[in-house]
Amino acid sequence: MLEEAALTLALLHFGFPLYYYSWAKGMLGKSVRAGRDPGFTPRVAVVIPTYNEAGNIERKLEDIYSQDYPRDRITVYIVDSASSDGTVGKALDWASRHKDIEVRIVEEGERRGKGRALNTALNTIDGGFDFIVVTDADAFWANRDALRNALSYFSDESVGAVSCVKTPGGGGFTGVESGYRDFYNVVRLGESSAYSTPVFHGELSAYRRRLLEDLGGFPTDIGSDDSHTATLIAVKGYRAIVAPDVYCYEPVPRRKYFHWRVRRAQHLIQHFAKSIRLLPRSPKAFRKILAAEIFLHLANPILLLISIALLAYSAYKGSPLSLSLLALGTALLAYKPYRTWIVMQLILLVAMVKNAFRKE
Ligand code: GDD
Ligand code: MN
Repeated sequence: MLEEAALTLALLHFGFPLYYYSWAKGMLGKSVRAGRDPGFTPRVAVVIPTYNEAGNIERKLEDIYSQDYPRDRITVYIVDSASSDGTVGKALDWASRHKDIEVRIVEEGERRGKGRALNTALNTIDGGFDFIVVTDADAFWANRDALRNALSYFSDESVGAVSCVKTPGGGGFTGVESGYRDFYNVVRLGESSAYSTPVFHGELSAYRRRLLEDLGGFPTDIGSDDSHTATLIAVKGYRAIVAPDVYCYEPVPRRKYFHWRVRRAQHLIQHFAKSIRLLPRSPKAFRKILAAEIFLHLANPILLLISIALLAYSAYKGSPLSLSLLALGTALLAYKPYRTWIVMQLILLVAMVKNAFRKE
């Protein structure tokens, strides 16, 4: 009886993501390119929020400067929140050496988080911009046509937001990290082909400005400002897509990898918990995707935990079947995709516990 319950939960835990992944794979390339004009190069405000980014800001500006995009159509807005490491000085110095691209600096008197900084930028950007690209100072675009490709999707009026495909760069645990990415990149692209994805990336998130204004700006109470904004845009009936020809490098820290991953997971959990109430209002095509992601992030890890607890209990009570299932589950850790998956579940569980105690 206990064994049956444990097995059912385990089958659901592993079966649903496998099903969802193969669904996403089947969707790849179906409709994401529909209606786009590669020659569409509107004026764009590129917003870089910065807090103590002196070590990154010059390379970041170079990255934008070297994009294959008409420079006179780009205005960079750096919104800095009282950095103490000379970020603003470095940016001003760079701008004085590159007069052929417009750089504006918006300074906040104190640090109030990325979401609020983005809202400050939104209130400052002048009326001539219909598109806003947000990009973290510590992340880099992998191709010179990242900006051009991302914006080209907006020639389709139904597209409200566009983000990038991530490849992990640097860092120690690239084994786990690249496995995680391989899985989720397929899922994000598949969701985007089907309709929209509820997970966006801080490395490059592009928005139709009008929609941001309708939403009253970025959320300031959760970590995933980008993902939550994309989700709200999809709920409104516009497409929020990760584009297959826009790549970013994600800086993976060399030290404290798990700490970093857990923090990211905490942000995603906050985002999905807040998204539950959006389900009834979502367009049908998006409701399925959002429900699947909420299940994967909030419920699925718990199924695994319960399943293991039931097996352990019944093994302790003398069930040979439970004991062999536990042994099998452990032996499979030698198999890398399985190991990566288990580590991801562990990270989500730790993040849930941490979220219950404090919001980071
Ligand atoms: N102006 C300002 N004010 N900028 C800030 C502040 C602030 O209070 N806090 C952070 N930033 C800037 C950083 O300088 C960086 O350029 C960017 O915001 C992202 O901050 P990180 O500290 O690097 O965030 P992260 O790497 O943990 O998370 C990023 O990726 C997530 C997943 O893609 C962020 O972009 C998240 O919003 C995103 O969900
Ligand atoms: Mn970062």
